[in-house]
Amino acid sequence: MLNLEFPGCRKLVQAIDTAVAAGDEHAIADALRGTLCRLIRDRDVELPACVFEPVGDHYARRELYTSEQHGYSVVAMTWGPGQGTPVHDHSGMWCVEGVWQGQLEVCQFELVEQQEQRFRLRPVGAMQAGPGSAGSLIPPHEYHTIRNPSDDSTAVSLHIYKGRMTCCSVFRATGQDWFERDTRQMCLDETC
Ligand SMILES: [Fe+2]
Repeated sequence: MLNLEFPGCRKLVQAIDTAVAAGDEHAIADALRGTLCRLIRDRDVELPACVFEPVGDHYARRELYTSEQHGYSVVAMTWGPGQGTPVHDHSGMWCVEGVWQGQLEVCQFELVEQQEQRFRLRPVGAMQAGPGSAGSLIPPHEYHTIRNPSDDSTAVSLHIYKGRMTCCSVFRATGQDWFERDTRQMCLDETC
């Protein structure tokens, strides 16, 4: 289902369709990272204007496309200055994420121990990602935070998930790498 029409949207969908046929999840993530980097750098795709408008009290999630044939979904995220996520997982789904505009700080975590709803998550690396760069998460390596570190600029990223992510786990720090898990329903913001 094409939720939005915008210049280059067919090219975007065709490129993703080709990449998700690449094989197993590692091959798909590799292909999608390359595809996303190329699409961002080519600038043939013009994302809808609303995608560049931040929302005051949270980072915005706007669904651009869901594939009936392949099941994946494409979500544009808009990060106002300082906006970000708590530590979260991706409900067991692979995800490929590319920076469209601005800079994002991505911190990766690894699960080292679990006691029922308590998780020990260790930070294993942080990176600054700029336009035209892409990364991926493949379960069980699916824990991270994303944040726009800028004081005055908006950042935009494009996320391709294996399926529609309607909820995920978020993790609240309780000290010494330990976190408590909560379930969060994922909301979508209005598109234009
Ligand atoms: Fe994420």
